Amino acid sequence: MHTRTRPEEVLLQIDTLDVAYGKAQVVHGLSMQVRKGEFVVILGRNGAGKSSLLHAVSGLIPKQAVRVHFKGQDISSATPRHIVRQGLVQVLEGHRVFHHLSVQDNLLIGTYANSPGGDRSKLDAIYTMFPELAERKQQMASRLSGGQQQILAVAQGVIAEPALLILDEPSSGLAPLVIDRILGVASQLCSRGLSILLVEQLVDKALRHAHYAYLMETGRIAGAGFTDELRDSDLLQRVYLGGHGPTPAENA
Ligand SMILES: Nc1ncnc2c1ncn2[C@@H]1O[C@H](COP(=O)(O)OP(=O)(O)OP(=O)(O)O)[C@@H](O)[C@H]1O
Ligand SMILES: [Mg+2]
Repeated sequence: MHTRTRPEEVLLQIDTLDVAYGKAQVVHGLSMQVRKGEFVVILGRNGAGKSSLLHAVSGLIPKQAVRVHFKGQDISSATPRHIVRQGLVQVLEGHRVFHHLSVQDNLLIGTYANSPGGDRSKLDAIYTMFPELAERKQQMASRLSGGQQQILAVAQGVIAEPALLILDEPSSGLAPLVIDRILGVASQLCSRGLSILLVEQLVDKALRHAHYAYLMETGRIAGAGFTDELRDSDLLQRVYLGGHGPTPAENA
């Protein structure tokens, strides 16, 4: 069984986060944390507020009544650029890459936050980790498959050498083998010391890879626990599945 490490090992601490679009509040007083070396997943249905939570933490949308600490620093009012420089890097939903640029140029963009001209010295390690990209260095990103584009999006996050890599539904629209590859890469990165915060709808696959899970429902944390304890729990059944029909297709 996994154990959460000591309290001083907290990497990301979110306290009482509210997010609203105009008058519509979609995240309500949400608190959660990611500890160093942990693989944390946020599970929740469409529209639960998962992406809103992540965008608020990354500084991409305004947030209210919140304290966000990362590596002990208050980043509640920090700019997205500063947050990335601190080592909190988010891979956005929908395998977003620059279609008109080559694989290599997309990767170099991932190094810009720390090296404005691009840092080619980081490429070899990335190509070793992602051989499917090494084979396609000069290919336009637009010519990659959806799965390859998602791997490129993840690699673009990894090359920035974050302390915390946030992945927003990387499985979306992809075939089972590609999903396994991406979650496998996330686990591998975690075992090398990178902390991971994953948002996912594929419950079984996510619970298999992550250490700790938060269950999110209509903008609130409805439950949390170690994944090996949650897997067969009433809590998961009640919060995630209860009364709302079957779980989203598990593609596996
Ligand atoms: N830019 C926006 N303007 C207004 N409302 C928004 C905006 N983005 C999201 N919402 C609303 O906020 C709520 C939460 O959306 P969000 O995208 O955070 O959910 P999610 O859990 O990431 O969903 P999904 O699993 O479909 O990605 C939804 O009701 C959504 O319609
Ligand atoms: Mg989302």
